[in-house]
Amino acid sequence: MAQLIKKIKGTEDILPRDSYKWQFVEKVLADEARVFGFKEIRTPVFEQTALFVRGVGEGTDVVQKEMYTFETKGGESLPLRPEGTAGSARALLEHALVNEGLPIKANYFTTCYRYEKPQAGRQREFHQFGMEVYGANSPLSDAELICAGASIFERLQLKNLRLEINSIGCPKCRAEYHRALKEYFESKKENLCGTCHSRLEKNPMRILDCKSPICKEIAKDAPKIIDFLCEDCESHFSAVKTYLDAAEVKYTVNPSIVRGLDYYTNTVFEFIAEGIGAQSTVCGGGRYNGLIEELGGNPLPALGFAIGLERLLMVMEAQGIEIPAPDKPVLYIAALGKEAEINAFKTVKTLREAGLEAHFDIVGRGLKAQMKYADKIGAKFTLVLGDNEIAEQKAQLKNMETSEKTEIRLGENFMQDFMAILLASENKFN
Ligand code: HAM
Repeated sequence: MAQLIKKIKGTEDILPRDSYKWQFVEKVLADEARVFGFKEIRTPVFEQTALFVRGVGEGTDVVQKEMYTFETKGGESLPLRPEGTAGSARALLEHALVNEGLPIKANYFTTCYRYEKPQAGRQREFHQFGMEVYGANSPLSDAELICAGASIFERLQLKNLRLEINSIGCPKCRAEYHRALKEYFESKKENLCGTCHSRLEKNPMRILDCKSPICKEIAKDAPKIIDFLCEDCESHFSAVKTYLDAAEVKYTVNPSIVRGLDYYTNTVFEFIAEGIGAQSTVCGGGRYNGLIEELGGNPLPALGFAIGLERLLMVMEAQGIEIPAPDKPVLYIAALGKEAEINAFKTVKTLREAGLEAHFDIVGRGLKAQMKYADKIGAKFTLVLGDNEIAEQKAQLKNMETSEKTEIRLGENFMQDFMAILLASENKFN
């Protein structure tokens, strides 16, 4: 026998028996996006390297260490997207979406790729749902976006989710902060990792989210950006908090949140769950007023967030949140003999045209095995068709739950009889 081929480390399969959970969550997310006025954007899985180097930032772990890059046949080196924000911003510019009226609100479902050490809640291929807003600078838009996140988690009935917010200021207040950070880290330089040595020169803020345990420990006592905010950033943050209070969205200010991507300015936030281990940030986002300009556009304020769908489903499972199981098939027709098979084929076709899930045997099983299969897939009704039934154009429809049998006409009267019995059975159970 040929050797089995296994999936790549850090990737997961979503199997037919579980996909209804994803579909349920995706439907809620899409619906929340709709009521908040978002329209879906879909962008390619691979982009130019420069997009992430300039967008996400050269000094970030994501770009420096985690990007999946492949070589094309033309000898070009291209990365798989590590996140959705940069691609969405590129598309906004490339298609001049700003001409369609501001604000633009776009949401997406994407796979993302990061070469990280896999563990519970951390994969190399994972799924994000993101919401991005372009052309809004008012603190109201920060509050509205955070509310959209809170509203999603409320609709999915997540409990004990912590919302932590912070402001990381603008380039103006950052200049002084960088000086203070540099001074602090210079004094601990000999203990920092090699990557952080170069970060110290280029962007000392990136040391704050280094994953090395020693750098993490040193970063704990580093100066906090919130103490360096300029007047405008301070008042923006204070207004965001006022609006969140007005909307009764609970939060705590965590001055240590800096986020791992370079494009953020001002408000940043994370929704953090309990009980799913170390990778507990289900959602992260913030304002990124400099990104559009960085990518070659005119300055345009923007903000957004992304939810990790694997982590979201993990939290739901850990909290015992029930996801409605899909509807069962309404009918399984077991057929014996050529004529009965053709009749079953046609009847199932009519039911499917009416939007009902129905099955018949396509693998050539005997009657007993067909009935066993009908039971396994949870068919509500079964019908056995043989020569007699075809000759008389009548058969016994069996309710699999009650074992009750009802005579049903075949041919053109079948649908009418079947729908009446199906509706009566549903009314009985409701
Ligand atoms: P991020 O914090 O890097 O932000 O990722 C957002 C979410 O994706 C995380 O909170 C987490 O739930 C999930 N996630 C990240 N890495 C992994 C992984 N290796 N395995 C499983 N899940 C993961 C961004 O990506 C930004 N683009 C968010 C954003 C949108 N900011 C503004 N707009």
